Amino acid sequence: MAESQAANTSDGAQPHRFGEMAVALSYVTPEQLARALKRQDELRAGGARSRLGETMVIMKLLDEEKVRKVLGEQRRLRLYEANQKLPVEQFGEYKLVRRIGEGGMGTVYEARDVLKGNSVALKVLRKGLGVDKSYVHRFSREISAAERLEHPNIVVTLGCGTMKGIQYLAMEYVDGETFKTTIELDKQVEEKKALRVALDVARALQHAHKLGLVHRDVKPENVLITKEGVAKLADLGLSKSVYGDSQLTQTGEIVGSPNYISPEQAKGQREPDPRSDWYSLGATLYHALTGKQPFAAASPLDAMMLHIKGKLANPKELNPKLSAAAVLIVAKLMAKEAGERYQSAAEVIEDLEAALKGEAPKNAALAAGRSTVENGSGASALTAQTTGTEPPQGKGCLGVLLFGLGLVAALFAR
Ligand SMILES: Nc1ncnc2c1ncn2[C@@H]1O[C@H](COP(=O)(O)OP(=O)(O)OP(=O)(O)O)[C@@H](O)[C@H]1O
Ligand SMILES: [Mg+2]
Repeated sequence: MAESQAANTSDGAQPHRFGEMAVALSYVTPEQLARALKRQDELRAGGARSRLGETMVIMKLLDEEKVRKVLGEQRRLRLYEANQKLPVEQFGEYKLVRRIGEGGMGTVYEARDVLKGNSVALKVLRKGLGVDKSYVHRFSREISAAERLEHPNIVVTLGCGTMKGIQYLAMEYVDGETFKTTIELDKQVEEKKALRVALDVARALQHAHKLGLVHRDVKPENVLITKEGVAKLADLGLSKSVYGDSQLTQTGEIVGSPNYISPEQAKGQREPDPRSDWYSLGATLYHALTGKQPFAAASPLDAMMLHIKGKLANPKELNPKLSAAAVLIVAKLMAKEAGERYQSAAEVIEDLEAALKGEAPKNAALAAGRSTVENGSGASALTAQTTGTEPPQGKGCLGVLLFGLGLVAALFAR
């Protein structure tokens, strides 16, 4: 941690923000930082989504190598702080037991509710982060149970509080593993097991969307699997509550994982859209079924660009055992345009249930070339691969769609 200690600001405080860190590392002067912040404000006022690092590159104050070093140093600082002993051992009625893991917003501990005697998971937020009032309200005891996010497939948030200036969230403790671990252990998750997890998550999202909440960060790390094999979606609404509508944090880091992000989120769309969650569920399912994380080799920024414009290999090429139904569902979930994805949770659930029974998905029709998933993007293209027929050329979207629909029906009628 020598580098980070050397990177203290002049008043001795640790530099958490990108700009402060760049100054602390003597890459820019405070005066240059002030100019860059002013320029960034101007760019943002003009509607550009400019990160401070990028602005500094444009202004030739930093090169990309130095931007990476600043970001790396920030990460190191965060890890260092997470490993420091906390100044408190008990947060309200919750007594810390052990550290479980580390995420983008802070550290998660197993804690014991000293009043009730049960275990809870305590997310201790990083300095400078805080959840907004509407999020706290959602879990307050005054609101009706119907409004509250209580669902068997959602990790229930029990409450939030502040202790010695440190904000924490108490959540239901899930004794099990994250879906990320399952994928790492299984390499390629068996189809039915993966579809059952997706179905649990779809039910969780159905409940959240009904209450007007978009998750914005669906990914394998946020899906916890109990010992009984039930999937529970964690951190619902948390990223919005902490970071607001922007997809970027104040330090210019991306909210959510760039490997599972929807194209519209990658483009910086501020208006939350429940269909973004369907895309991220598709990317999660793609990872589970193929063992390949979407756009894993790309840098975070490139991964975001690739979700907007790039293609992923057809899942069947990576895992020949996959059913046509599973591939169609992933392709439909990962349609580039939100308007061409599933339009409701009920449609997603119906198709996942059908696939689990070995039946054809009814709502997965999609014109060729419209998904992030290569060839699997259109029923026509997929079928063409399995039957050796060429997909129709130059028929226009509707023609391709109708052709695709016919072929899906034909494929599953066999
Ligand atoms: N409710 C919970 N019960 C048990 N373990 C949990 C719970 N929530 C989180 N964890 C564990 O803590 C780790 C860190 O979680 P955290 O949510 O902070 O990070 P993340 O999901 O990787 O990233 P992000 O900050 O984007 O959500 C998880 O990987 C998981 O192992
Ligand atoms: Mg999480």
